[in-house]
Amino acid sequence: MPEHRPHHHISPPRGWLNDANGLALRDGRYHVFHQYNPDDVGWGTARWGHVSSTDLVRWERHPVALTPSVGPDAGGCWSGCVVDDEGTPTAIYTGVESLGNDRWTQTVCLARGTADLMMFRRDTQSPVISGPPQGDARGFRDPFVWRDGDGWAMVIGTGTDRDGGSVLLYRSTDLLTWRLIGPLLDARIGGFAPGRFGRMWECPQFVPIGDRHLLVFSVWDDGHPSPLAYAPPPLHHAIAAIGTFDGRRFEPESMQRLDEGPDFYAPALLREPAGRVLAWGWSWEALSESALREQGWAGCLTFPRALGLDGSALTMAPAREVARLRGRPVALGSIRLGSSPLGSVIGDSLDIELRVRAGLARRVEVAVRRSPDGEEETVVAFDPVTSCLSVDRTRSSLDLAAAGGRFEATVTPDRAGGLDLRILLDRSIVEVFANDRVAMTARVYPSRADSSGVALYVDGDDAAIERAVAWPLSGSE
Ligand code: FRU
Repeated sequence: MPEHRPHHHISPPRGWLNDANGLALRDGRYHVFHQYNPDDVGWGTARWGHVSSTDLVRWERHPVALTPSVGPDAGGCWSGCVVDDEGTPTAIYTGVESLGNDRWTQTVCLARGTADLMMFRRDTQSPVISGPPQGDARGFRDPFVWRDGDGWAMVIGTGTDRDGGSVLLYRSTDLLTWRLIGPLLDARIGGFAPGRFGRMWECPQFVPIGDRHLLVFSVWDDGHPSPLAYAPPPLHHAIAAIGTFDGRRFEPESMQRLDEGPDFYAPALLREPAGRVLAWGWSWEALSESALREQGWAGCLTFPRALGLDGSALTMAPAREVARLRGRPVALGSIRLGSSPLGSVIGDSLDIELRVRAGLARRVEVAVRRSPDGEEETVVAFDPVTSCLSVDRTRSSLDLAAAGGRFEATVTPDRAGGLDLRILLDRSIVEVFANDRVAMTARVYPSRADSSGVALYVDGDDAAIERAVAWPLSGSE
């Protein structure tokens, strides 16, 4: 069986990983924490795992940085953030205690960290917020804090069965005493029905972007079955909204899914001092439980993505640093029409770039993780007639433990009538970007050792493919 652990994506050495937490850039080093249960391949008592990097591509793993202890986080240190409080790294996170029956107290806790961020200890004044303002809240979690003028501001996720999801805004002068300002955005005001937008919004992230603000949150709903095969049922998808912020409320101008693939959730944002906004999503496994047990670890984070604005439209692309992983390029220049397995391009970890002249193509397909006879393959396709980008993993694996499905998104050609496609493959994770506007993440688990080929199929004019290059990701040849 091929190895499925990505070479370059952040994954847990053993056990379970979910959301990225506490993203921080300190002394030139990026720190990424994450929800971590080293004891099991399923979700469980959450600690904060910790990795760091100076270049965003080579990560070093450190000991667990935040651990539950007797008191308001005895049941787990759920998601949160890290801020710099006059030189002291400070984690603000969700402390939980079990009430049984999958019910939890959810409070905002605060922990002070060592200067190198290796170890955080809960402050005795925790919890700094002891629960939600509404009694019937579905949850109250995932504080995201930033410096705002002389003080601090925080957004936190909540929601009710009747009214749907909501993001609350709080303010503080000292991180310890918090004043509720009101809903930054809620489903009722926005007219977002609970059916599609869930009964609670988790992991809100809120940053200035260009001349506007970006609000990201993840839709949670245990009342509606997840449309995603193998996805943990209450977890659905991540929404990104662009809009304006008047200091109290967020007025959205546009809303979209941050990723249209099946395996992307709970993204966390880091805004660098120069204004670049980076995002890491959690990509869960699309495998049966018994296969997970055999694998021994579960979940990885996506490559960091840079989010930006083009006018008022959200742009997204892999962070430029990801290109540092590229080995020697293979130009796919002389591609003939029809199906052509590209013998020269082979590997389970590749970076592929394609520029398609949409008007000249009727269909373009790139198959990766393909066995020589095509028995196994994962197909990324673009159909210019319908503007449909798809990721098809119905034949990704002969192993019945791996989820199938075909997923679609709409991509319009750019101003020049072109489509830029970028495919990042790292063993079991495929991240597809189109025109810097749409991203799709999917997990695939080929069973054959020879499922490492690439094939290109073009239906249309000879000149439909303007450019096609592939690079092996270094260290994975
Ligand atoms: C999102 C989430 C968060 C919570 C954490 C617990 O995946 O449900 O809302 O803090 O996971 O692990």
